[in-house]
Amino acid sequence: MNTISGLDDLRELLQGWRRCRERIGFVPTMGNLHEGHLQLVRRARSLTDRVVVSIFVNPMQFGPGEDFDSYPRTLEDDKALLEQEQVDLLFAPAVDLVYPSGVNETTRVQVPGVGEGLEADVRPGFFVGVATVVARLFNLVQADIAVFGEKDYQQLAVIRRMVKDLCWPIDIEAVPTVREADGLAMSSRNQYLSAGQRKQAPVLYQTLCQVAEGVRGQKRACAELEAQAIQRLKQAGFTPDYVSIRDAATLQPIEAGNARAVVLAAARLGRARLIDNVGV
Ligand code: PAF
Repeated sequence: MNTISGLDDLRELLQGWRRCRERIGFVPTMGNLHEGHLQLVRRARSLTDRVVVSIFVNPMQFGPGEDFDSYPRTLEDDKALLEQEQVDLLFAPAVDLVYPSGVNETTRVQVPGVGEGLEADVRPGFFVGVATVVARLFNLVQADIAVFGEKDYQQLAVIRRMVKDLCWPIDIEAVPTVREADGLAMSSRNQYLSAGQRKQAPVLYQTLCQVAEGVRGQKRACAELEAQAIQRLKQAGFTPDYVSIRDAATLQPIEAGNARAVVLAAARLGRARLIDNVGV
């Protein structure tokens, strides 16, 4: 596996592959890789000739007081995992390469509609940070396909919309959420949970499944199902940010269950902020 952090080396390698008409698959990450990321890598591998993974802890998507400084950085372990997956290139740029004009001075990408509400209400500026870094990485890597996880459902919708609006010649592939045996969605932030909190954490997924079941049953209004879910999470020791039943495509609120709904939630449990979603 090649590990590159500079622009010239990156361009040279990519040009060689393109000259041979090889298709490039791209998996952008912030590192601290787990099985969820490896599934994205495997999907990219199954669809393309060359797989590029980036590791970049993006300062722009962290708000004041969030965990940018303490975000787990485990480059050597990540490299070993990517070697095992036969990744062709690990791209690990420095902040200056991604933001040559400076993080605060750079051109930004703002996605309306799906980029508003839910996570954006709780983490203002988060999706501007995500869309901007993904745009920049897409331009650097110029892949044919990029692969993202459905766990970050709203992020996936933001990226799809950005690609459509900016007419990017790249296909976005989505991979279903990878879960622990007890249902907890895999996330780098799960390691912030204490042993006791880890036992409670699957309640988030269980609650989402219960809401999805309620939507399917159509006996209760969405607002009532959401309120019940918030209550259940609070009783289990969570501090919920939201539980929301939305249209799966537009992410707009819906009044009654429909076939294209998704239930999204975010809740704090101790130091960890967990997000998850379940389709209806
Ligand atoms: O999902 C992530 O890990 C990040 O938000 C992403 C897409 C790599 C952008 O920094």
